[in-house]
Parts: sequence; structure tokens; C-alpha cells
Amino acid sequence: MNMRTQVGIIGAGPAGLLLSLLLAREGIESCVLESRSSEEVETTIRAGVLEQGTVDLMMELGLGERMQREGAVHHGIELRFDGEGHRIPLSELTNGRAIVLYPQHEVLKDFIAACLKQEGHLLFNVKDVQLSDISSHQPHIHFIHENELIDLRCDFIAGCDGFHGVSRSSIPDTVQRVFGRTYPFGWLGILMQAPPSANELIYAYSEHGFALVSTRSPELQRMYIQCDPHDDIANWSDAMILEGLQLRLATIDNWQLHIGPIIQKSILAMRSFVIEPMQYGRLFLAGDAAHIVPPTGAKGLNLAVADVRHLTHALTQFYQKKRTDLLEAYSTTCLRRIWRAEHFSWWMTSTLHRFPDDDPFQQRLQRAQLEHTVRSRAAATSLAENYVGLPFDW
Ligand code: FAD
Ligand code: PHB
Repeated sequence: MNMRTQVGIIGAGPAGLLLSLLLAREGIESCVLESRSSEEVETTIRAGVLEQGTVDLMMELGLGERMQREGAVHHGIELRFDGEGHRIPLSELTNGRAIVLYPQHEVLKDFIAACLKQEGHLLFNVKDVQLSDISSHQPHIHFIHENELIDLRCDFIAGCDGFHGVSRSSIPDTVQRVFGRTYPFGWLGILMQAPPSANELIYAYSEHGFALVSTRSPELQRMYIQCDPHDDIANWSDAMILEGLQLRLATIDNWQLHIGPIIQKSILAMRSFVIEPMQYGRLFLAGDAAHIVPPTGAKGLNLAVADVRHLTHALTQFYQKKRTDLLEAYSTTCLRRIWRAEHFSWWMTSTLHRFPDDDPFQQRLQRAQLEHTVRSRAAATSLAENYVGLPFDW
């Protein structure tokens, strides 16, 4: 079967769905192809922190109603080391900007509901997605949907299919440059049925390694501890995880973690990754398909949002005014923000984790860095500015 659309979008994650919604607002038609089922997309636990710009954009699109009701606005975070907590007052340091804790899978539910209401297509459970003719003016996406082989003819293709997707490999090796780091540690993440232990997120550095206390709702808490990235989650009993959290979060004034049943646990590897350029012919990569940050800076979803906002603007100018300069500048425009977030995420990760080979010198440097961050208003402001997110036109 033959189909036709203006923008073929591969992947219904935050990047692909938001791109489709933003394009629809400009009267540009798109078709989103997703290999997983809608249930799987709507239940995978991932990000939790939305930057101010992401929140503002969701509100502007009329997609913020549930986020406003169920999300939690946070005006600060805690950095905890040497058994003491230090608050970084994000809003005070950034002219009132803040973050909102609202889980990625809830964002996706809101996006999917909105996409299903608009014209255009959103297809789940597609198979064997392949791209062709991307350097021509009429690229194609071939895929199977409900046992039918479909040839989708597009003006442009947006590769929003995450780190393990197929789009990136369509950019010839001779053109692409890849930059990256793999970290010698991972995160063991849990969901715990318990009341919150703190009003704001806690990022803890300790001799036992890193820990993060985050939240999902008044009844459900999200926490992470540093672990061996190659470890098997089956090696971690609930009691070991609890002990790990308590050791890393202990304070001199005997702070207590509120505990309850652990209902989900998994280990994730941490990496930094960027591909340059993010465009080849009529293929434009956005989100995790083009770049990965370790989650310590809470930037991944927010970067995906910034990419598709730029891409929408460039495509709109193309369709309305026949301008191609913004499409040509897409990669360069996005990469400025991406490298800033790459640096911030690498910095947060390097400052807060224990490295397997780390020596006393490295540990003293980490502590000096943390002390500077909490004692110097300039250093705290730099953290706050990056954490709440730089303006889109930065
Ligand atoms: P994805 O969400 O990966 O979506 C890609 C979609 O494409 C998927 O649905 C996939 O099934 C689909 N797909 C893949 N291959 C194909 C194919 N061949 N055909 C069709 N479809 C395909 N970010 C933050 O900003 N804040 C946080 O607090 C934060 N915390 C995180 C915590 C954890 C534990 C993790 C793992 C990540 C976190 N992130 C965070 C990062 C964030 O989740 C990602 O950056 C974000 O999901 C990227 O969105 P995306 O749309 O680019 O890619
Ligand atoms: C989360 O709530 O999942 C979360 C919060 C902050 C991070 C990473 C993940 O830096």
C-alpha cells in the first residue's frame, strides 16, 4: 500500500509525539510510526524532571492541564555530602524559574491522547522500518503494519527513534562523527511505595557512591544508587538496596529514609553520546537518536523537546516561506544546546559518583568542587541555571 505525508516521524517517544503536535499546530501533516504498543510506551518508567521551558511549551500547547494538577513544582534541590545537606535554591538563583516533577510516561499519555485527536496518523506496533532515498527530495519509509507492507512517501523524515533506533545508521559513516564516553558505573533504579522522604530531590555523594532521591507521587518514590553497570539485578535483594540507600544518604543528624515495598527495580548503563551532524539530506535526527546524556543532569527528555521545537520552526519556515536556511542550520543550532547539556551532565556525573579506580586526590577534588558549588553563589547559580534549563534560543 502507498501512503503520503509531509513529515514521516519514526518513534513515538517524547521527541516524535511532540514534533507531530507542534507541526499540526502549524498546519503541517505528519505520520508517526512506533514499533512498540501504546501500552508499552505509556508504562515504561523513565524521566521525571521537566525543565521550565518544557513545562511552558506544554502549557502553550494546551497539554499542561494534568501536569499542573498532578505534577509537583520544585524550587530547589539538595546536594548532600559529608553527611550534610545543602539546598540549591533554584528559583531564587534563576529569576523564579523552577522544575516540575511529572513522569515521562504521563507526559506520553497526554501527548498520545492529543495526537489521536488531531488529523494525521499515529501507528503503533509497526515492524521492519526502513528508510530510502533520504538524499532525494522524496524520501520513503517502508514498514509493515497489520501484516501489510506500506511505502510512505514523505517530504522529510524525522528520526526520533531513540538510541537503539534505525534512523541514525542511514547517515553514511563517511559523513558522521561520533563522540562518546561510557561510564564505569550504572544506576540501580527503584520504585518504592512509601511517602516522600524529602520535599525536594536529593543528590548525594558519599564514600559508598552516589544516591538520588526523587519522587513520582505522594505514594510512590523513585530512587537510584550507583552500581556496577554489568551487575545483574537478581543479585540485589530489596534489603541490600535499602541498606545501599541508607548508607549513601546517612547524615550526621540521623536523617531517616521513609521506606516501603519496592515494586520495581532495574539497572541502567550510563553513557554520553553525540552524533554530528544531526541531518543528512532530508533526514533530521532528534532526541536520543542523536545524543545521550547520563541521567544525573535530568536533561535527556528536555533536550529532545528543544530539538523538535527548532525542527518545527525550520520546517514551518520551509513550508510557509520556502526558506531552507533554517533547515540547513538545524544541526548547528541544536548542537550548541546539546553540548552545553552534555557538559553539564558529564560534570554532575563526574562530581557525584565514585570511580572504581579513584584515588584520594580525585576524591579531594570532588569534595572541593561540591563545597565551591554550595558556598559560592556564582557556582550555585551556574548549577541552577543549567538544571532549570537554558532558554530555547540560548
Ligand atoms: P525515546 O524516548 O527513546 O523514544 C524513541 C521511540 O522510538 C521509542 O518509543 C521506541 O520504541 C521507538 N523506536 C525505536 N526504534 C524504532 C523503529 N525501528 N521503528 C519505530 N519505532 C522505533 N530525561 C530528562 O529530561 N529528565 C529526567 O529526569 C530523566 N531521567 C531519566 C531517567 C532514566 C532512568 C532514563 C533511562 C532516562 C532519563 N531521561 C531523563 C532521559 C529521557 O528518558 C530520554 O532522553 C527521552 O526518552 C528521549 O526521548 P526520545 O523521544 O528522543 O527517545
Ligand atoms: C527521576 O525522577 O527519575 C530522575 C530525577 C532526576 C534525575 C534523573 C532521574 O537527575
